Amino acid sequence: MTTKKIALVTGANKGIGREIARQLGKLDHTVWLGCRDEGRGRKAEEELRADGIDAHFVQLDITDEASVLAAVSALDARSSHLDVLVNNVGIGSGLQTQPSDESVADIQSMFETNVFGTIRATQAFLPLVRKSSAGRIVMLSSGLGSIALTADMKSPTWGLAAMGYSASKAALNMFTVKLAKEVLLDGIKVNAACPGSVATDMGGPAAPRTVEEGARSAVRLATLDWMGPTGGFYHDGEGPGIEPYGW
Ligand SMILES: NC(=O)c1ccc[n+]([C@@H]2O[C@H](COP(=O)([O-])OP(=O)(O)OC[C@H]3O[C@@H](n4cnc5c(N)ncnc54)[C@H](OP(=O)(O)O)[C@@H]3O)[C@@H](O)[C@H]2O)c1
Repeated sequence: MTTKKIALVTGANKGIGREIARQLGKLDHTVWLGCRDEGRGRKAEEELRADGIDAHFVQLDITDEASVLAAVSALDARSSHLDVLVNNVGIGSGLQTQPSDESVADIQSMFETNVFGTIRATQAFLPLVRKSSAGRIVMLSSGLGSIALTADMKSPTWGLAAMGYSASKAALNMFTVKLAKEVLLDGIKVNAACPGSVATDMGGPAAPRTVEEGARSAVRLATLDWMGPTGGFYHDGEGPGIEPYGW
């Protein structure tokens, strides 16, 4: 009988998600790559397999109910449970736009993906996670979702706008804590990770952190042992551990 853990990473065809999938694969997980575009997903699957990862593409657009349900069925048919769900998908805009000018349509679009899409995917996959003996759910949040930092004049993010994106990540943080409390006695741990400012298509080429560094906190939260925390917001520290991030 295999002891390999089974993980699903959403938005795994590029950026931090693809790297989380790679790092979990190196930690001997079978990794499902939830990607909305089959071509991009299959390419990532091929590249990760060439790197020795047990990677499997599954079509998944978290804003599309039918796609999410089909992905749950696909996993259900192939595995009895899901040990790790990493909700990595996120979209962002409005870094230079002040709140008084930010378009409601843009804000709605970010909430559709970052909040409602993540809630939809989590609710749909939760029955499979409940079948794990030690389920772990990780949300890719952001320091911009921290209200404490946003209100701190000494914070490096003080001058940034991005109200819609920040509010969506603050809402995601609330979902994290509420869900963590609901599934506490099922042995499922639910935490949010801040990857830092990472050089990806979203973060831009000048961002200081690599994808390897950006994936670290999510991977640590995805592989917590039974003594690990739940209902928290973390980033990776200097050592091998995780450190609390201010809400
Ligand atoms: N980069 C940073 O500095 C930074 C900082 C803080 C937090 N984060 C968070 O970290 C996460 C990953 O960010 P990233 O920088 O790696 O972003 P990225 O390079 O833009 O990658 C985003 C991934 O999400 C996928 N995606 C978007 N909408 C989707 C949907 N509806 N259904 C399924 N997949 C979808 C994209 O797929 P396609 O290729 O098909 O578009 C892509 O695979 C996000 O939640 C982001 O908010 C990033």
